[in-house]
Amino acid sequence: MKTAQAILKDELIIFEKTFKEAVKSHVPLLDRIMQFIVNRKGKQLRPMFVLLSAKLCGPVNESAYRAASLVELLHTATLVHDDVVDESLERRGFFSTYALWKTKVSVLVGDYLLSKGLLLSLDHSDFRVLQLLSDAVRTMSEGELLQMEKSRSLNLSEDIYFEIIRGKTASLLASSCAAGAFSASQDELKTQKLKEFGEKVGIAFQIKDDLFDYGTENVGKPTGNDIKEKKLTLPLIYTLNRIDKATRREMIYIIKNRNKDQEKVQYVIQKVIEAGGIDYAISKMNTYRDEALTILHEFEDNDARRGLEELVRYTTDRKY
Ligand code: IPE
Ligand code: IPE
Ligand code: MG
Ligand code: MG
Repeated sequence: MKTAQAILKDELIIFEKTFKEAVKSHVPLLDRIMQFIVNRKGKQLRPMFVLLSAKLCGPVNESAYRAASLVELLHTATLVHDDVVDESLERRGFFSTYALWKTKVSVLVGDYLLSKGLLLSLDHSDFRVLQLLSDAVRTMSEGELLQMEKSRSLNLSEDIYFEIIRGKTASLLASSCAAGAFSASQDELKTQKLKEFGEKVGIAFQIKDDLFDYGTENVGKPTGNDIKEKKLTLPLIYTLNRIDKATRREMIYIIKNRNKDQEKVQYVIQKVIEAGGIDYAISKMNTYRDEALTILHEFEDNDARRGLEELVRYTTDRKY
């Protein structure tokens, strides 16, 4: 990530200031939580995608900085809500907002962040950017709900898996890149191209995230949770669709009825590894990464393009 951070050295400072400014509140409890959120910042990948996409298409202007803040506000709001939905106590290597302040506060904090994002755009009439990002928020909610519906009936289809991750993760990355491009250029053709680019990156990003769940490394949030939640991701879907009938029935039984039994879950994971489910997911992820790079290479070679290329590679090589 070093190249991208170096290219955006000045821009990221302005972004952080804009972000901090945007979440200020006069309500003491809210202000404390906002400080907590600002201090426990994440990788800031999405703002970097916004700013580099902007840089690729024109000069980085005020509207691009607002777009970067809007994207991070929306992302943070969805994480705060996601940890309530997933009952997850750890985020960014520390307690989640949900763990510290529980459901009621977390729901309201998520709403607050969302409204602050909307206002930041509306107050400056960034209508196109707001339209791009509102579309992403809708698609994210649809993706999350589709995931919930399919975990009840145990989704076994790759198509549905991709529909879920395109919705819950790729749409925000797609709109981030599109918003950056539009802010700097008002060029709809470039905006569309970068949206397609961002979608490919986003799909690769979520496959990587789902692979973390099969690992034992510390990634700053719980792992080994997906099977417990009956969330079938690509390595498992691939395995279930290829393994012999008896093992498949056994695995499905465990996922449905024994998903809290650590030993049984470990057995399922072992089967996935043996069947090549992990390798398959890695190769799919790399295909999306390469498709993203192909789109990127339609743009002329410059610093911004090199930064984006590095971020794409970071997406699939990252350790957390
Ligand atoms: C986590 O996103 C949520 C997913 C879409 C899987 P990031 O890994 O970008 O989260 P932070 O912002 O760096 O914590
Ligand atoms: C992350 O989804 C949140 C969104 C994409 C909206 P997950 O629940 O799959 O990811 P983590 O593991 O909690 O970050
Ligand atoms: Mg979730
Ligand atoms: Mg989660």
